[in-house]
Amino acid sequence: MKPAHLAHPGPSATQSAPISDRHRHTTGKYGSIIALLMLFTVGSACADLKAESDVQRGRYLIQVSGCNDCHTPGYMETDGKVDEKLWLTGSQLGWRGPWGTTYASNLRLVVQNLTEQQWLSHARGPWRPPMPWFNLRKMRDEDLMAIFRYIRHLGPSGAPAPLYLPPDQMPKMPYAQFPGAVP
Ligand code: HEC
Repeated sequence: MKPAHLAHPGPSATQSAPISDRHRHTTGKYGSIIALLMLFTVGSACADLKAESDVQRGRYLIQVSGCNDCHTPGYMETDGKVDEKLWLTGSQLGWRGPWGTTYASNLRLVVQNLTEQQWLSHARGPWRPPMPWFNLRKMRDEDLMAIFRYIRHLGPSGAPAPLYLPPDQMPKMPYAQFPGAVP
């Protein structure tokens, strides 16, 4: 006589199908939730990476397009050896010419009051010399936006630059004189 377990498939064999079936369904349900969660995680990690790369790109663009030269105190005079904490905090050096006397603004404060869209038109001027606003008109939106995000990332710092002076007023602080008659 055959052992009982060989003669009959036995209850465990027949019952195992529904159990593993149920198991499969459960895995399927949780599986899709897990997959969804992973998608969110990957999605937000991608967004973080994008924000991070925007900031890094903005930092790079600031350096190579010369914004620090005028907007960071002492940057040109020290071959760029200025602590990043002071970058773009504006300058007390006046630029005097037929347009009057201008001062490179404290961009760390300026960006605090602007939305991304406002920044795009704000940065593209027109402004008075020697601000090269016409170059920013050639810059792609995403590059200019990266600059904005970088400056925002640095956070507000410093005091506003001195106010613009009309041509008939003599600056009290040091200034660079451009050629051309000052009326
Ligand atoms: C040669 C000097 C110089 C360089 C280089 C320069 N700027 Fe300026 N920038 C100025 C001056 C001066 C002003 C003030 C102009 C005025 O009073 O009309 C100014 C004004 C601005 C303003 C207007 C801010 C406000 O007061 O609301 C923005 C925005 C700006 N600059 C962004 C930049 C960016 C971004 C770069 C780099 C791509 C840059 N500037 C490069 C000198 C410069």
